[in-house]
Amino acid sequence: MLGSGAREHAIVTALLGEDAGHEIVSAPGNAGLAAVVETVALDPSNGAVVARYAADNDIELVVIGPEAPLVAGVADAVRARRIPVFGPGRAAAALEGSKAFAKRIMDAASVPTGRAIRATDLDGVARALDELGAPHVVKADGLAAGKGVLVTDERDAALSHAEHYLQMGPVLVEEFLDGQEISLFFLSDGHDVVPLSPAQDYKRVGDGDTGPNTGGMGAYSPLPWLAQRWGSEQAFVDEALDTVALPTVRALEAEGTPFIGLLYCGLIVTDAGIRVIEFNARFGDPETQVVLPRLETPLSQLLFAAATGGLGKLPFPKFSPDAAVIVVLASEGYPDEPVTGRVIEGLDAAAEVAGVTIAHAATAVVGGEYVATGGRVLGVVARASDLAAARTSAYDAMGRIRLEGSFYRHDIAEGVA
Ligand code: AMP
Ligand code: GLY
Repeated sequence: MLGSGAREHAIVTALLGEDAGHEIVSAPGNAGLAAVVETVALDPSNGAVVARYAADNDIELVVIGPEAPLVAGVADAVRARRIPVFGPGRAAAALEGSKAFAKRIMDAASVPTGRAIRATDLDGVARALDELGAPHVVKADGLAAGKGVLVTDERDAALSHAEHYLQMGPVLVEEFLDGQEISLFFLSDGHDVVPLSPAQDYKRVGDGDTGPNTGGMGAYSPLPWLAQRWGSEQAFVDEALDTVALPTVRALEAEGTPFIGLLYCGLIVTDAGIRVIEFNARFGDPETQVVLPRLETPLSQLLFAAATGGLGKLPFPKFSPDAAVIVVLASEGYPDEPVTGRVIEGLDAAAEVAGVTIAHAATAVVGGEYVATGGRVLGVVARASDLAAARTSAYDAMGRIRLEGSFYRHDIAEGVA
């Protein structure tokens, strides 16, 4: 398991929960992962190192968590040794690594998305802003850890955001899409595709969707309002499968760069229907932490079938009707300049709340104590029979954790049931 976030902790927790005797090595992992599996200090983005480690240790399946190793071609290096790997190669990972590439594939596959204009200089950006109108959406073309996007009514702010990211490469100016956002995950073996249950993510740092975008401050699953609007969750998922995921996977297959791994569809439900705002080439964080606890099909089966082919022979994954909520604890200063090195207390008391688990993200054990090592420190995950109960448990547990200067959003899964 490559990576070191709460997403990776959640994937490993799901695998261990199968009680199938899996032996798992986490590279590099974090304090939460180190408490449950072996960790090894190797650079997850170094394909040669990862491939050699996998070969030397008879690893049967490499699961790639974060985007950086995918975009760096780690899956290609592992696959070259004929070791099964869950994660697309560099070419298909460009679906996440380059928003312009993603738009090209969506065009080729007639996938519904907003209009976008690519610009390489400020004049081009200005023309695109005028053409598409306000609210303005400006995106860095390449990876920016969720921070490359600005949505604003102010033309000047849009221009200066573009100016900053133009130093690193092209930018996209997009049509503003109005509606509820949904994160929907599909597993793909390069040809066949199976869906997981949808989740909703809270991207802005502050309560009431204020402040800058982050990697994600909380999430919940399932989405009762979506099931109501579409008649059922299944009806929505089927439509997204047919109009978004399958055509995208088939377009990549036709280009000779099959997508093997997790296709994360960032969707907006507009009045005109489903629209794609972004693709990611890996499990979402923190959405994974609320989707996987509800998964009743063994995750290892799905990952292995995706990595080796034959996903089409499996029934669609099953989900519990239970609800799950995650609230993310962030270090003081996140997302700009998180303060690290401070001690985290109260984790045991938090985990005593019924249905609660702690998904570690940026944690380490130093001198016998847990310390925060980054911006998103951990997530409190609560599972219960409905969203309101899960939300209550998550906040009860969060209230027991102490980390100087830290903060979290108070409105996760509020008013959504
Ligand atoms: P992205 O990295 O493309 O997912 O963008 C980050 C966030 O910006 C999204 O989760 C949305 O909240 C917002 N966003 C991105 N593109 C659009 C768009 N075309 N219209 C409205 N909001 C958008
Ligand atoms: N939570 C958003 C993402 O994983 O990209």
